Amino acid sequence: MADRVYVFDTTLRDGEQSPGATMNQDEKIRMAHQLETLGVDIIEAGFPIASQGDFEAVQAIARAVDSVQVAGLCRAVIGDIDRCWEAVQDAKNPRIHTFLATSDIHMKHKLDKTPDEVIDMIQTAVSHAKQYTDNVEFSAEDASRSDWDFLVKVTEVAIEAGATVVNIPDTVGYSQPFEYYELIKYLKDNVKNVDDAILSVHCHNDLGCAVANTLAAVTAGARQVECTVLGIGERAGNAALEDLVMAINTRKELYDVETNVRTEQLYPSCRRLSQIIGMPIPPNKAIVGANAFAHESGIHQDGVIKNRLTYEIMTPDSIGRTSNDIVIGKHSGSHAVKNKATELGYELENDQIQVLFKAVKDLADKKEQIYDEDVEALILESVYRRKDRFRLVDMSVFSGTGDVPPHAATVMEFGAKGAAEIKRTSCFGEGSIDAVFQSIYSLIGVVPRLEVYSVNAVTEGADALASVAVRIAHNGTKAVGRANDADVVKASALAMINALNRMEKAKEER
Ligand code: KIV
Ligand code: ZN
Repeated sequence: MADRVYVFDTTLRDGEQSPGATMNQDEKIRMAHQLETLGVDIIEAGFPIASQGDFEAVQAIARAVDSVQVAGLCRAVIGDIDRCWEAVQDAKNPRIHTFLATSDIHMKHKLDKTPDEVIDMIQTAVSHAKQYTDNVEFSAEDASRSDWDFLVKVTEVAIEAGATVVNIPDTVGYSQPFEYYELIKYLKDNVKNVDDAILSVHCHNDLGCAVANTLAAVTAGARQVECTVLGIGERAGNAALEDLVMAINTRKELYDVETNVRTEQLYPSCRRLSQIIGMPIPPNKAIVGANAFAHESGIHQDGVIKNRLTYEIMTPDSIGRTSNDIVIGKHSGSHAVKNKATELGYELENDQIQVLFKAVKDLADKKEQIYDEDVEALILESVYRRKDRFRLVDMSVFSGTGDVPPHAATVMEFGAKGAAEIKRTSCFGEGSIDAVFQSIYSLIGVVPRLEVYSVNAVTEGADALASVAVRIAHNGTKAVGRANDADVVKASALAMINALNRMEKAKEER
């Protein structure tokens, strides 16, 4: 029987460290449920000591999922470990994941510790975590730049102290596949108690080798892979879960290992994350990009018509990308809408179905064909959007090419519905979107720096929903906002208002 490789998903922790990928607690829980459906073995839910919000999100995820282990990350420090345990303890199968840097450069310049002190800290941290649970993982941060014999000692000490998983991260994405293979093999051959734990790998993508390095490590005997959906993560990101799983499945004869992942949930998982964080899937993204199965050249098309296997190494169906996803139109009933939501993995209450049904009908008036992506965007927009404290009531925008500068008139309401205060203003701007933003800033009384503004079409066609994401910063606080609407200017206004609401909430929480 093929060996099992455990999939440790860190989308909600390392992934969330990706610029612009911040998720609120509800969004994290929704993503955690999807990861559970996908069949990952471990969800790393966050870094509980980082903030109260992180702590609460980890705790909520630990309580929300059943069939998957929930890990919390903590430094190799007693207070961090205690807080981590507090956050994960209610999970059916909690894990404490503690880490400490082991490379010379990190030990000297970041930790100001000698190698012996680092060994002591690892021993103390893992033993302390072990008092809470048997399920303890230790990560040697910057392992790939650490001295190999020191890493042998670190791994032995961590296992002796009770770690059941020892992770060997390529923290700065520096390693190359053949070298990383040799490192894992060296540990397999030289750590005397290596069979008492699982060796894990965690690769960053700075040199574009995260997936290749992870696969090389699997070949050398690593049996846990740490990865994120769409490869999001710190800087250039982490190894992409969908790439790893499909490489392992498609080249089974080479790797001879298996995972528990339901591959037909890969595309739905990527799409859900993309919708939640407002980051479109790049068209040329391996496995799930819009072009991944599109054959443009005549020679390829001819080959595929004669026999798909000429140019197709896996099928769209195998990753859950069905071609018949035009779903609902003007005449569909609420039952069809409910079925579609369920098929997409959303269990909605009756009142939520009614809200979605109305949103689908409204969209059907503007758009000929409604696709899965549209329904998912509407679910996020109409069902799950948190109640904003400031809301858009109305707006009108003037854009032109003559002497009159673009301007916008905006009406917003503030405070609880029913007792809300209405405010209105109009402003000029460099362009129509800028004019809308200026009027919103003026009504709210905050002028943030706009760091990111991106617009993408949710589906094909001129009538596609526009998906807008913004990232703003003000007095050291950053926030992202997202919105989908058939009108790109309105979507931009809603995204900005969403970001300002989130910023307000983040300031309050601090
Ligand atoms: O990249 C890294 O080293 C990490 C560890 C904390 C596992 O994210
Ligand atoms: Zn990392």
